[in-house]
Amino acid sequence: MSNTAELGVCYYPEHWPEELWSSDAQSMYANGIRWVRIAEFAWSRIEPKDNEFQWEWLDKIVEILGKAGLKIVMCTPTATPPKWLVKKIPDMVAIDHNGRPRKFGSRRHYSFSHQGYQKESQRITQAVAKRYGQNQYIQAWQTDNEFGCHETTLSWCDSSLQEFRKWLQNQYLTIDKLNDQWGNVFWSMEYQSFDDIELPHLTVTEANPAHHFDFQKFSSDQIRQFNKQQVTIINQLSPERPVSHNYMGHFVEFDHREVSKDLDIAAWDSYPLGFLQNMQTIAREDKKLLKDCYRIGDPDFQSYHHDLYRGMGRLWVMEQQPGPVNWAKYNPIPLPGAVRMWTWEAFAHDAEVVSYFRWRQAPYAQEQMHAGLMHRDNTPAIGSKEALKVSEELNKIQLPPTLQSEIALVHDYEACWMTEIDGQTQDFHYTRLMLDFYKAVRKNGGSLDILGKNDDFTGYKLVIIPSFVHLDEETFQRITNSGAKILAGPRTGTKTPNFQIPENLSLQGLGFQVTRVDALPHELPIAVEWKGVKGKLSVWREQGNSSGVSEGTASDKEPVLTSGNKGSYLCGWPDDNLLQAIMENQMQSAGLETVTMPEYLRVRKRGDLLFFTNYGSQEVSIPDVYQGEILLGQRKLTQAEITILKIA
Ligand code: GAL
Repeated sequence: MSNTAELGVCYYPEHWPEELWSSDAQSMYANGIRWVRIAEFAWSRIEPKDNEFQWEWLDKIVEILGKAGLKIVMCTPTATPPKWLVKKIPDMVAIDHNGRPRKFGSRRHYSFSHQGYQKESQRITQAVAKRYGQNQYIQAWQTDNEFGCHETTLSWCDSSLQEFRKWLQNQYLTIDKLNDQWGNVFWSMEYQSFDDIELPHLTVTEANPAHHFDFQKFSSDQIRQFNKQQVTIINQLSPERPVSHNYMGHFVEFDHREVSKDLDIAAWDSYPLGFLQNMQTIAREDKKLLKDCYRIGDPDFQSYHHDLYRGMGRLWVMEQQPGPVNWAKYNPIPLPGAVRMWTWEAFAHDAEVVSYFRWRQAPYAQEQMHAGLMHRDNTPAIGSKEALKVSEELNKIQLPPTLQSEIALVHDYEACWMTEIDGQTQDFHYTRLMLDFYKAVRKNGGSLDILGKNDDFTGYKLVIIPSFVHLDEETFQRITNSGAKILAGPRTGTKTPNFQIPENLSLQGLGFQVTRVDALPHELPIAVEWKGVKGKLSVWREQGNSSGVSEGTASDKEPVLTSGNKGSYLCGWPDDNLLQAIMENQMQSAGLETVTMPEYLRVRKRGDLLFFTNYGSQEVSIPDVYQGEILLGQRKLTQAEITILKIA
């Protein structure tokens, strides 16, 4: 939690003639930019042939950028192994789910488990860190680029298989134990030795979910280890410079909390318009949201990710969308003001740096339709004007440190994998559920922290667990011991950590024992009424025995919400309106103030500052209960505006 707030940019000097470098550096500085990230895809220019390095160009640009007053984030270039390397070790490429090699010609074509590639990754990291580790202009590092992007977390290659077998042996020690815990007696799947085990793909019908789950955990662990190998080298050769990695939005394929243990900065790449489009196809179609927020993004998606990653380290936005992108289904131009509002919103959530992707639009190759801060002809694009405005505004506002929120939302990667591996309905989308609960808090004016199960829950008034399949009694006790009010959501506590159904299908103290699950399409919900609010439960509905206080009536005669001596349990996935009403009630009974926010207006608290963002197309006023001195903006916000209010 810091109170620095600076702007940055991603720059590719290797894409441009040297004559432009000095003027680029000067324009960046004049535009309010203070950080510049370089070299994450530059391996073929740093080392054009095996062990033949060409440092001169990189030395030169480091000098130019540094002398212009810019601090550099140096990257390891391992997301783009060059052709000569693939020729040298052809089996380093990842294999897709259908058993096909992922070919050279784009990026991320390596397997995390390949020992030879791991050595190459350490060798190039060593070379770059040795050359620049002590350079005064290098002030931070980034490992690789977007681990797992383009479906590269899992590789179905022989290296993965060999390493997976060892990993399993380490976990289970004996094959009998593995057979027992996976339940391999079912369909005669018992193994005689760890060498019998294959990767869980290309089976006739689905492979054992426990097999899948372990392969996901293993693959996540391979990323953790790959990252750690690089971090260890950087820490030795460039001590005191923080190390980051740039995570993605709506990406849950590896355990980011585990990877973050070795990093200082948990950065992420924020593309609000692309993500709004993608969530429509992956998670749930929302035609109204898409229409209303087409050029500005989902009002909660960015903030959710800021809060998620902020819980794992110092928060940076390493890549911020500056204009239209090229990779979504449709790629609109953001509304005027959107880039400025997104930038401020990141600072509201504690970001230390917001760095735009990229300086100038590329004239060739895959991303030529992707905007930069500058147009291809070097004239400023709209993003650069908005960035400049933010940098001027930043000079006038002192940002206070963020304090712990009163509400915590519990998030867990393994829980996510379990719900998706053992789907039961194709509509149960973990991030969608998290976002629904997160939105419900924000629509009631709340700010919150996102925590992992091992974090400290002391001091929270309300702990929300939207869904945590394998939450065990012991972890649950630790959370309840904090004294907070608890609201748990569907599926919580319904599996053991070994992916089996526990004998007693409930957590003690929430007033419900699940016995049956009704997995429904979104369009065929159960009609319910709760405290006069008519609504629906869909996707996931639980039936069972209520042992506490039941609330609500439903067409299937089951409760909507139950409460025991430890907290409350939501026996299904409510629609937005119902969830907002339930959340308001939960917040109030935890002693928290609630404010019903206008539809697309959101507020985020940072110390004694309140940041309001308007994602909706209507002009809205800040509700009267919020009083204080306006530091930026006005009480009435049109779309894409930000207002900062200092409360007394
Ligand atoms: C990110 C990636 C960048 C660039 C960008 C385009 O996912 O890290 O290298 O491809 O997307 O939006």
